Amino acid sequence: LRLPCSATTMGDETSTSVPAQGQEPAVGAGSVKQQLSRLVISSLRATVPEVEVEPMVEVSAKFADYQCNNAMGLWSKIKGSGTSFKNPNAIGQAIAKNLPSSDIIESTSVAGPGFVNITLSNSWVAKRIQDMLVNGINTWAPILPVKRAVIDFSSPNIAKEMHVGHLRSTIIGDTLARMFEFSNVDVLRRNHVGDWGTQFGMLIEYLFEKFPNWQEIGSQAIGDLQIFYKASKNRFDNDPEFKERAQQGVVRLQGGEEKYREAWKKICDISRSEFDLVYKRLNVELEEKGESFYNPYIPKVLAELSSKGLIQESEGAQVIFIEGYQIPLIVVKRDGGFNYASTDLSALWYRLNVEKAEWIIYVTDVGQQQHFEMFFKAARMAGWLPDPNEKKFPKTSHVGFGLVLGSDGKRFRTRSTEVVRLVELLDEAKSRSKSELLQRLTENGKIVDWTDEELEQTSEAVGYGAVKYADLKNNRLTNYTFSFEQMLSDKGNTAVYLQYAHARICSIIRKSNKDVEELKMSGAICLDHPDERVLGLYLIRFAEVVEEACTNLLPNVVCEYLYNLSEMFTKFYTNCQVVGSPEETSRLLLCQATAVVMRQCFQLLGITPVYKL
Ligand code: ARG
Repeated sequence: LRLPCSATTMGDETSTSVPAQGQEPAVGAGSVKQQLSRLVISSLRATVPEVEVEPMVEVSAKFADYQCNNAMGLWSKIKGSGTSFKNPNAIGQAIAKNLPSSDIIESTSVAGPGFVNITLSNSWVAKRIQDMLVNGINTWAPILPVKRAVIDFSSPNIAKEMHVGHLRSTIIGDTLARMFEFSNVDVLRRNHVGDWGTQFGMLIEYLFEKFPNWQEIGSQAIGDLQIFYKASKNRFDNDPEFKERAQQGVVRLQGGEEKYREAWKKICDISRSEFDLVYKRLNVELEEKGESFYNPYIPKVLAELSSKGLIQESEGAQVIFIEGYQIPLIVVKRDGGFNYASTDLSALWYRLNVEKAEWIIYVTDVGQQQHFEMFFKAARMAGWLPDPNEKKFPKTSHVGFGLVLGSDGKRFRTRSTEVVRLVELLDEAKSRSKSELLQRLTENGKIVDWTDEELEQTSEAVGYGAVKYADLKNNRLTNYTFSFEQMLSDKGNTAVYLQYAHARICSIIRKSNKDVEELKMSGAICLDHPDERVLGLYLIRFAEVVEEACTNLLPNVVCEYLYNLSEMFTKFYTNCQVVGSPEETSRLLLCQATAVVMRQCFQLLGITPVYKL
């Protein structure tokens, strides 16, 4: 009897990813859940060799530390097949008994319909934390089922706009990239800049008209490109002769005429340097492969789709009809031009075949969801991607996000042009955090201890970090209200509060006058007090949290963890005396481990931690 394994889809969102066959992970590699899952797999094979199922291991704060929930699903598969098991509980008992011996598990018990409760061994937890302190937090990286991913994020449009939506895409995409990178995935950070399209005809002609010696002038002379865009659009809309020239201009650009290519490049360069002002402040790295990069691939890709019978003619355009959608996906416009969809199909082809990415992730507002759904389906029809139900790779995902709202509850709008305004917004976050810091330091008489450089760096870390955290802490699909007051408050779930929490731990360690670098080599961690144990268990969950955030593409999971960790630390610190207690060494090491994990969370969120505040 061999039953399909797809029947166990319970708890899907957080299902444990098992490394691909053939590559046995080293003992101790991966998250705690992944390590327990390996023990559970071997027990399942011994318990019910006739059925193959995925191990289901979850955190269980209520009954034990972790829980294995395979018994009921297995029961529903084997009951009535002549099995000797009488009920799910009996299967649970057998799973518990067949777990290979390991120093991870202290004890197990079976509850109700076969839940196997697993209590971790204190000494193993303590050792895992100490090993991390000695060998670095990278040893806690989860194992993800892919080696290379493309993350397509930020992706503003040349000369047109870089608005709050692009800011969100930049922040969310960068965080996802950091999480995958931490998990040892090779990430291609792609800026899919909108650098091609009919608007370039009018932009170029307007450039020629306004600046006859355009080759010599610098970007400052042209000024803000968005204003330039509006002016050229105005010209286009009101002057038929200009419009005609602009339309010719597109053709000449696409035909590769030297002068037009050069002007196009100039305009792109100016935009790029504007975007870079934002990237620099946010400390975000991206590699630009704009829409134009994929132009040469479009004809070939469309020919392939056509040969597979996917492309049809409809009202003069070339389209792909997709089941479930009223309107087809247009891939060649009526005027013969290519569009957003044909570019995206070609980019996907390139990412799969040339870049050999296994997971391709697109970060844009939810408004573009349908576009992504449709072209992902087209790619599946072409046989480029497996059926999503098969849970195989390569795979594409659209990471959608909601709107940023202003204090009036309406879409966050900016008065001046968007790029300039985004830069101003970030600068305002910094200057606000600086004046608050100055005020507090002056009140406490501490201002004398701070150098100007420290002040500057701290207000940047706190200010930019606050903007990022306010964006990331919510489930990305929900809209959120942009408020400096809220994000810069030192109370509640804010980056400022967390920066304080981290700085406080650093100060506890500093004031102990002990060298933790030395202690971690010579001392030992012990988790006898209940609050020590709770903190220790939560610390070692870090890898699972990153795994979950990557699997479900949800950065807020890490924010939640970071916030809870700081709360748990407070509880520990309130109930367990650190300095001067008999357990001082162990507890200082727990302080240090908490600080290290917090800093790693900050790193994943793109926030620079501060050590004193
Ligand atoms: N430039 C687009 C916009 O501003 C976003 C591009 C997203 N990436 C993609 N491959 N379609 O809306």
